[in-house]
Amino acid sequence: MTTIPVSPQPLAIDGGAPVRESFLPYGRQSVDEADIQAVVDVLRSDWLTTGPKVVEFEEAFAARVGATHAVSFSSGTAALHAAAFAAGLKPGDEAITSPLTFAATANCVLYQEATPVFADVTADTLNLDPDEVEKKISRHTRAILPVDYAGHPASLTPIRDIAQKHELVVIEDACHALGAEYEQRQVGGIADMTVFSFHPVKHVTTGEGVMVTTNNPQFAETLRRFRNHGISSGARQRQNAGQWHYEMVLLGFNYRLPDILCALGIQQLKKLDANLARRREIAARYSDAFRQIPGVIPPTVRAEANPAWHLYPIRLEAEKLTVDRARVFRALRAENIGVNVHYIPVHLHPYYRDRFGYKGGEFPVAENAYTRLISLPMFHAMSDQDTEDVIEAVTKVVTYFKR
Ligand SMILES: Cc1ncc(COP(=O)(O)O)c(C=O)c1O
Repeated sequence: MTTIPVSPQPLAIDGGAPVRESFLPYGRQSVDEADIQAVVDVLRSDWLTTGPKVVEFEEAFAARVGATHAVSFSSGTAALHAAAFAAGLKPGDEAITSPLTFAATANCVLYQEATPVFADVTADTLNLDPDEVEKKISRHTRAILPVDYAGHPASLTPIRDIAQKHELVVIEDACHALGAEYEQRQVGGIADMTVFSFHPVKHVTTGEGVMVTTNNPQFAETLRRFRNHGISSGARQRQNAGQWHYEMVLLGFNYRLPDILCALGIQQLKKLDANLARRREIAARYSDAFRQIPGVIPPTVRAEANPAWHLYPIRLEAEKLTVDRARVFRALRAENIGVNVHYIPVHLHPYYRDRFGYKGGEFPVAENAYTRLISLPMFHAMSDQDTEDVIEAVTKVVTYFKR
């Protein structure tokens, strides 16, 4: 016999009044007048690209995350490609990464004609499980690419230990984790190379753009060359030295981040601490509220981590609900809450299924999490009222569908 759910409030998806009148996206940039002025100033200057703002942004960024070198790139994909190159990945090599990530993390391995090997995640943080990584090491393994899912740092100490034992390079995909801390240290100076994104939904934005940090001068030099056609010097360096001569020393690309965007990045970086504080405040309020709602599991934070909260992904306890994730998702959207899902596990995308024969079931923890995950709105410009609206909508919908 099916039970008819009873709720004091009809859901918007069934024609009831939505919790909000206007749509609240899951992420959004904040750009102020100082940001705009910084970009305008560059437009009036001599250098639109590869000029002084690039160096200024890179130096400020390296100092902020406690790394010796920072190298900017035009996108996360470009930066991951460069990091895979700098790590020496070549045909026949393998690199181990998480299936619960954006496809770009694994794709960079393919650009080098190497093979991405997935290892399952831990059920609490949904980050790479070091025990699973260890099982996937072969004589072809050359790198590990942990992902700081949602902004919670991966298990960097055990991963670095494995890397050291097997002489592997660690490329941390910290696209979600600018400002995160692990064992009291800033993410950015821990892995061999760390990749941070400046997409508009991130903590700091340049529209498109990314920074790779490293303490290894060799990696820094290779990264710089790779982003500039494999050329050994920049146009500005040559101009300053009164030189025209340059040499192409490796096969690189044009993956440069222009001065216009670096100027925006310099201004945005000044607001990182405030943005992080606000995200942490929202996460704390969410977690307080969601711990009280049966059917909802808030994200776990490990003792050694201070996450940057790029995302706030809840998991639904399907056993306690009468409907699946898709229905809850649609109901929340109807309440004008811009929920999202991060991520469809990479190995389940048609390209990976076709090329590598994945059928599903290979990574049970990641796959199970995927069926339950919903990312709630999380961005630093969210007001207290926005936050309360999300809590109200989740409470309304989940309570309605309670078993
Ligand atoms: C975890 C992760 N890795 C890589 C990327 C790729 O970055 P981009 O879109 O800048 O190429 C993203 C995108 O946001 C991401 O979230």
